[in-house]
Amino acid sequence: MKMTILVIGATGKTGRPVVEALAARGAKVAAASRNPETGFGGSREDGVVPVRFDWDDRDTWAPALEGAEALYIVGPYAHPTGERLVADLLAEARDTRRVVLLSVIGAELLPQEAMMAHWERAVRASGKEWTILHPNWFFQNFGSGFLPALRDRGVLALPAGQGAVSFVDTRDIGEVAAAALTEDGYGGQVLTITGPDALTYAEAVAMLGDVAGRQMAYQTVEPEQAEANSRAAGAGERTIIAQRGLFQVIRDGGNAPVTDVVRRVTGHAPRSFAQYAAEYAELWRH
Ligand SMILES: NC(=O)c1ccc[n+]([C@@H]2O[C@H](COP(=O)([O-])OP(=O)(O)OC[C@H]3O[C@@H](n4cnc5c(N)ncnc54)[C@H](OP(=O)(O)O)[C@@H]3O)[C@@H](O)[C@H]2O)c1
Repeated sequence: MKMTILVIGATGKTGRPVVEALAARGAKVAAASRNPETGFGGSREDGVVPVRFDWDDRDTWAPALEGAEALYIVGPYAHPTGERLVADLLAEARDTRRVVLLSVIGAELLPQEAMMAHWERAVRASGKEWTILHPNWFFQNFGSGFLPALRDRGVLALPAGQGAVSFVDTRDIGEVAAAALTEDGYGGQVLTITGPDALTYAEAVAMLGDVAGRQMAYQTVEPEQAEANSRAAGAGERTIIAQRGLFQVIRDGGNAPVTDVVRRVTGHAPRSFAQYAAEYAELWRH
């Protein structure tokens, strides 16, 4: 019998490509969402079964975990008591022998409020075979969280300074995660997953302007101003502190390194930002 792999965060920016990459390998996938019917598109014929899972509802944990020999975890990053939850989940995951955790490049430099250190400790201490993913910032942010600002105003304002970022396509993260979930040889590894080159936000936004055929620009904002904006928009203190750390790492050059992990694990070159921009150009037109 094929092993079942439970993907938490299956409707998200990495979870969805993880599910697709696993399905392409013929794996049996339990795709977890708080709203499995709407969130994961009804019945599928490719071995993907939507299941309900909610970090806030522990009654959903055991049914989702049942028979899951491998587990992909997108942690409860916006949760008020999210530090403990990954350890609690792993303690309940009795059928699971292998776990892949989504963390972030530079996690070791982030404040405790970012919670990655807690989750990484939990995974390492779980007694399971673990792999920790340290991806860089996703291409797909430009087509989701950053999209309204880019499409409506043509301006992306962030406290990233002129720091370079080796942005990465979440489809490549999905393929790397699928390999770590299904193949031997990745246990005990931290995989730093990047795109093929490091770009500043100014360079990335200019490329989107080129493909969309309009003027678009990046504007650097002072960290204090960015925090005041986030606070005014209703962000909690924990999120603000975590964001402060993430952008500090960018400004300090911590997001610039380029690794060969995508090529090494998948056998193909990482997708480039230029490819991504051309593919989705329609998104940034008016
Ligand atoms: N964005 C980046 O550039 C980047 C880079 C590196 C690392 N990361 C890390 O990636 C993680 C995910 O961030 P993201 O912005 O990309 O989010 P995302 O994965 O696109 O979306 C969040 C996912 O979490 C699920 N979710 C939310 N609340 C949940 C709950 N209470 N119980 C169960 N599932 C829940 C959502 O599923 P449903 O709504 O279907 O339940 C959704 O699939 C964060 O830890 C972040 O630090 C992000």
